[in-house]
Amino acid sequence: MICIAIDGPAGVGKSSVSRQLADEYGLAYLDTGAMYRAATWWCLKEGVALDEPQAVVDAVRDFLDNHVTFVIDPQEPAVVSDDEDVTSQMHSEEVSAHVSQVAAIPQVRELLIAAQRKEIEAQANPDSFSQGLGIVAEGRDITTVVAPRAEVRVLLTASEEVRQARRNHQAQQGQSGKDDVAARDAADSQVNNFTSAAEGVITIDNTHMDLQQTLDSFRRIVDQAF
Ligand code: C5P
Repeated sequence: MICIAIDGPAGVGKSSVSRQLADEYGLAYLDTGAMYRAATWWCLKEGVALDEPQAVVDAVRDFLDNHVTFVIDPQEPAVVSDDEDVTSQMHSEEVSAHVSQVAAIPQVRELLIAAQRKEIEAQANPDSFSQGLGIVAEGRDITTVVAPRAEVRVLLTASEEVRQARRNHQAQQGQSGKDDVAARDAADSQVNNFTSAAEGVITIDNTHMDLQQTLDSFRRIVDQAF
């Protein structure tokens, strides 16, 4: 089974790259940011006080056990909650503004990391994704914590200005709500180091690259690894 792990800060283009790579190589696609976003969306919807960690942990456990399915098909990745497709709500301004607070709670991370490893391991013995050749997983701690033994591990970075500009462009196109990438990075980097590469992790800086050039860099690395 192939596992490609990709980490990086907000707005760097991880999702576009990971999804396209997964599609090209016939792999599943796990957007772990979407899992933290979904947990946050649920807590907001249920009126859980985000400054009460135990209440958040209980709500997230119930959500994962009883109310959510993550669809890991790169052609149509989705978050389905109680039979409703809620994917489009994951990038709302409200979710983006609160997700770092939820993701900083250690027990929330434990629950989500366990769920992520389960999804990755299920690809070795698939029943939900047809090919089962492997998976591309992206986030902030995939190369270091979730899948440190992945065959390919990449840290994707770009300057803050470029990342904020890309996110603003997405917001203008209606693909996401307003999102302060610097604030999110500052909060998230208290929890995980995704600004410098861990040992054995390859860095790609795509400040001066478009999506196609970024994909070409990844293809070279993946083709060399397999
Ligand atoms: O990748 P994305 O920007 O969608 O991630 C949303 C948020 O989820 C991040 O700002 C971070 O708080 C959290 N996250 C995390 N660990 C991951 C992926 C995302 O803490 N592996």
